[in-house]
Amino acid sequence: MDTCSPVGEMEFVKGFVGLCDVGWRMGWHERNGGNLSYRLTEEEAEGVRLGSDAEGSPWEPLGVAAPSLAGSLLLVTGSGRYLKNASAAPERELGIVELSPEGDAWRLVWGFAEGGRPTSELPSHVLNLSVRSEATGGACRVLYHAHPSHLVAMTALVPLTDRDVTLRLWRAMTECVIACPRGLGVVPWAVPGSAELAEASSELFRTYDAVVWAQHGLFASGDGFDEALGLVHAVEKAAEIYCLARSMNAGSEDFPNTIDDDGLRAIAHRYDLPLNEALLD
Ligand code: 13P
Ligand code: ZN
Repeated sequence: MDTCSPVGEMEFVKGFVGLCDVGWRMGWHERNGGNLSYRLTEEEAEGVRLGSDAEGSPWEPLGVAAPSLAGSLLLVTGSGRYLKNASAAPERELGIVELSPEGDAWRLVWGFAEGGRPTSELPSHVLNLSVRSEATGGACRVLYHAHPSHLVAMTALVPLTDRDVTLRLWRAMTECVIACPRGLGVVPWAVPGSAELAEASSELFRTYDAVVWAQHGLFASGDGFDEALGLVHAVEKAAEIYCLARSMNAGSEDFPNTIDDDGLRAIAHRYDLPLNEALLD
């Protein structure tokens, strides 16, 4: 990595704003809807720290604690900021925060050039980056929160259990189980930005790569930007197909054709997937 580049031109910032652009074009980020975080590598963090004078900035409490991420740097979107604007002015729309030695507070290291603060969902990003990082042996670096319409619509009708939501999505479209073979966790409606929402999600992220927030959206993890974006895309597409099929079927879920459990197991066998058998009938 070129540690002499301005932070806004570093490769990980380009990947980050690229995801913001695609998510905006997909229609998942009305107004300031949605947010994104990226956990920097040691090498990237070193490059950022070289040009920063964060020492002495006050720590702000997070409301949750993630001791395993103590001292980590996270690139995050700003609260109230529109993801569509991130690529034009990353140093204004985004910020890099450092986590305290206890992992329970943050301070600004770079960005938010004209004032601003991290996304209101920072507690969820921090707690869940720590859980996913532990679950993947350090591979997971990205958490992406989007507001995809069909998935949110589904949560108005379908029973809010991991099993009920996951099975409908897996059965709607062949590729869905390939994108999320462990399934999806589901959190009933909760206040956005709350520690309660962060903590409920973190329990589910021990098992799942993505968590559905009822009447709100999806929180998806990935090793990199493509994996997190691809997971949201696959889940939302399956939800769209489910909604279309149900609408074409006069609102009934009694579909003449579907993928049964043996079909799901056959896909998992063919592609060597860690299928979550506990969710099957
Ligand atoms: P922020 O603008 O604070 O990121 O909030 C958007 C959002 O989607 C909250 O869930
Ligand atoms: Zn949201």
